[in-house]
Amino acid sequence: MNQNLSKELSAKKAVEFVKSGMILGLGTGSTTDFALIEIANLIKIGKIKDVLGIPTSIKTEKRANELGIPLTTFEEYSNIDLTIDGADEVDDNLNLIKGGGGALLKEKIVAQASNELIIIADSSKISHNLGEKWAVPIEIIKFAKEVEIEFLKSIGGKPKLRMADGLPFITDEGNYILDTNFGVIENLELLTTLLDKRAGIVEHGLFVNLASKLIVADGEKVKIVTSKQ
Ligand code: A5P
Repeated sequence: MNQNLSKELSAKKAVEFVKSGMILGLGTGSTTDFALIEIANLIKIGKIKDVLGIPTSIKTEKRANELGIPLTTFEEYSNIDLTIDGADEVDDNLNLIKGGGGALLKEKIVAQASNELIIIADSSKISHNLGEKWAVPIEIIKFAKEVEIEFLKSIGGKPKLRMADGLPFITDEGNYILDTNFGVIENLELLTTLLDKRAGIVEHGLFVNLASKLIVADGEKVKIVTSKQ
């Protein structure tokens, strides 16, 4: 499988759903980057007009500016028509693990504010159950590090502080990430509830019932899966 080709083709297919006048949520990551390039191209050739993007990270904001995608904020528009974003793992019900790029907090805010969330991925991201391939990124405030590490261990997780260049990785919002391996997640609802309840956890990378479509590519084979919810 040519992974980059798969990423590009799934991204291009997703951009076919972009219509003139839409407010777009712009995800983060290497797959989404192909969507940004395609959106910018279509704007340039006049195929789509008057779209405005809301970026999910500083990285995406910079990239959109570079490519010439006009941006807006929630102050101007509190509702998004369509968000296109990547994922680290996708299960049979289109539930996701996200946050490999560290942008999970804004990604979830944007996803929850969107009428439609299209997830783009190459086929290596697909699992039957979440946790088969990825640890769950959990964003915590710095103050709570030791407390949340103990909590995550107590519910069966193996938390690891994310590092970058020998120092703790810091999110766009100034927080830490604990990449927490729970093994295969048997009870997604319970785990989500436990994580949602903790004061020190700002947000976690389990995206449950948020994606409306998955566009997955395996080389040149592109498939659209629509959520059953
Ligand atoms: C960013 O925080 C993540 O949620 C990304 O969407 C995810 O890591 C996918 O990235 P790639 O497209 O680079 O695999």
